[in-house]
Amino acid sequence: MNNESRLIDRFRARFGHAPSVVVRAPGRVNLLGEHTDYNEGFVLPVAVDRAAWVAASPLPDRAARVVALDMGDEATFPLDPVPPRQGDWADYPRGVAWALGERFGPLSGMEAVLTSDVPVGAGLSSSAAVEVAFAWTWKTLSGLTVDRTELALLCQRAENEYVGVRCGIMDQMASVWGQEGHAILLDCRTLEVERVPIPPGVAVVVADTLVRRELAASEYNRRRQECEEAVRILSQFLPGIRALRDVSPQDLDRWGHHLPPVLQKRARHVVHSNARVLQAVAAFRAGDLEAVGAAMKRSHISLRDDYEVSSPELDCLAEAAWEVPGCWGARLTGAGFGGCIVALVAEAAVDDLTRHLERVYQARFGRRPPVLVCRASDGARTVV
Ligand code: GLA
Repeated sequence: MNNESRLIDRFRARFGHAPSVVVRAPGRVNLLGEHTDYNEGFVLPVAVDRAAWVAASPLPDRAARVVALDMGDEATFPLDPVPPRQGDWADYPRGVAWALGERFGPLSGMEAVLTSDVPVGAGLSSSAAVEVAFAWTWKTLSGLTVDRTELALLCQRAENEYVGVRCGIMDQMASVWGQEGHAILLDCRTLEVERVPIPPGVAVVVADTLVRRELAASEYNRRRQECEEAVRILSQFLPGIRALRDVSPQDLDRWGHHLPPVLQKRARHVVHSNARVLQAVAAFRAGDLEAVGAAMKRSHISLRDDYEVSSPELDCLAEAAWEVPGCWGARLTGAGFGGCIVALVAEAAVDDLTRHLERVYQARFGRRPPVLVCRASDGARTVV
C-alpha cells in the first residue's frame, strides 16, 4: 500500500470519516552550496521522492488535533492563541500554526494525521518537509492566499522563532519549489528560483552515515555567528557589504588577512562555494558532468578543511564514492557533522557505487550505510 492510501485508511480509522485533503511535501538533498543560504548566497538542492504527508479535515473549534503515525503519538493544541513551544515533534505543526496565525490571524481548526518517509536527522530536511506539509494543509483548508515563496518564508519563521533553530531558507524553498527531473538554483537573497534539468542517465544517490550529532545545532549557530563576524570586520574595508554574498574571491584575497585565521577559513568556504554553484549550473546546462562532479569534490574538501563540518564517517563515504568509475562527484550534504553524502553517478554505475560504499563503510565502521537512489520530485502539492 502506498503512503497516500495507508494515510487515508489511518485517518478514517481514527476520525471515522475520509479526510477532505491530503498533502505531500518533499524532503531535499542539496547538490551544491552548503552553508551559503544564510550568507544570502546560492544553493542547488533537489526535492526528493521522500516526503511528509498530511491527511486532514476542518474542525469547527479553533483547535488542532494531530496524530503522528510514525511516533504512535497524538497532540491537541489550541490555535487562538497557539501555546508556547514544548520541545516535542508537535512543535512543527504548532510553530507553523503560530507563524501563519501571525500573518493571517488565527487559523481554522483541523484534525490531521501525519506520516513521513524522510529519514530524521540525516540532512534531508525532514523537519522542513513536515512544516511545509502542515502549512500547505492549512493554506488549503483555510483558503489562505499565499504563494509558494511566502509559504516557505513563514515555515522558516516557524523554525527560527518558534522551534528555535536558526536555519536558512534553502530547505523550505526546495520543498515548495521542487520539480520532477530538476534541481533548483536558488538565489537566497532575491529568492529567485531557476530550474536546472538533471540530464537523462544521471542518478542522485544518497548514502547515510547513520551518525546523528547532538552538537549539530550549536555548531551550526556558531558557524552563522562566525560568518556575521567576518562580514562585520570586512565591512571596514568593503563598505556596503551586507553578507558574505557581497564578497568576491578577489576581495577576499585582498582583505582576508584582516580576519582571524578561523574566520578566514569560514569566509573562504562561503565565498568560493557561491562561485562554485554558479559554475556548476553552467556546467550542468552544458552537459559537462565531469565539471559538476569536480565542483562537488572541491565542495567536500572545503566543508572538511575550511568550514570544519565533516566527520570521519562522511569523509570515508565521500572518498569511497570518488573512487568509483561512473561517479562524477560526491560530497557531504546538508549541515554536516553527521547525516548523508550525496553522489552524482551514471545510472549504469549505481550498483557498483552502492556495493563499494557498503563494503568500505562496513570494513571501517562495522555497519552498512543505507543507500537511496533519489528521484527529483515535485514540490508541495495537494494530492487529494
Ligand atoms: C541546514 C539548514 C539550511 C542550510 C544547511 C546548510 O539544512 O536548515 O538552511 O543552512 O543546513 O547548507
